Amino acid sequence: MSALDRERIAHLKSPLARRVEFHEEIGSTQERARELARKGAPHGTLVVSKVQVGGKGRLGRSWISPPGGLWMSLVLRPEMPARYAARITQAAAVGVAKTLREFGVEVEIKWPNDLLIRGRKICGVLAQAIAGGDKQGYFVILGIGLNANLKPSDLKLADREAATLSSELGREVDLLKLLDALLRNLDAELGRLDDFEKILADWRKLNCTLGRHVRIRRFGEILEGEAADLNPEGALILKTQSGVFELFEGEIE
Ligand code: BTN
Repeated sequence: MSALDRERIAHLKSPLARRVEFHEEIGSTQERARELARKGAPHGTLVVSKVQVGGKGRLGRSWISPPGGLWMSLVLRPEMPARYAARITQAAAVGVAKTLREFGVEVEIKWPNDLLIRGRKICGVLAQAIAGGDKQGYFVILGIGLNANLKPSDLKLADREAATLSSELGREVDLLKLLDALLRNLDAELGRLDDFEKILADWRKLNCTLGRHVRIRRFGEILEGEAADLNPEGALILKTQSGVFELFEGEIE
């Protein structure tokens, strides 16, 4: 088993770990990566922490991050125009799902980008596009929180049940190997953002949302209908009694 540290991560030689910051404890890797990006940190700057005491989830939630998880944020400077930045959400979910399947767990993607095992969340993905910075005028901070070597009871989640990799497998995983596989899969998916149709085809194969009747909370309102498909830019096509909606954001209840 290799414990995570800065040298070992840098040794992976991943294009997504060109610069590595490793912390024993931090507020949030997401906030730290954003701070570094604002100061000009290049594409492939990776921030990893053993523990987060102020981890951030989607929709302003907190993200419980005790030792044993993989808590990381990446600075990305995509070469494509900002209007395509939302593609990173599906690309990352596909990359994480492929990684977890390589480790032997049958994860599925719940729209927009939660990774579930039998309905319980094992990993959250937070892709935040932020204006300002480089020639494209934006950068993206991609945060990944993976419940790796933890017991579900370590994660005192109020509103959902959690799954963890070690509980699913019945053994702990080597976090360095997990990170290596994750960076390889993310790099492969992010490297084909121009071929977004292929990423969406994989997303469709891996998802557990399409074809189902869902209730989605978005900006305080509830939309209910059939999750029919994703449009070519990755928005969810929701067919309701009052019409068809195309959603980039929201939360399935
Ligand atoms: C979600 O709500 O599903 C997204 C959770 C993302 C959590 C990760 S953990 C690493 C990074 N740092 C944070 O503060 N958040 C992200």
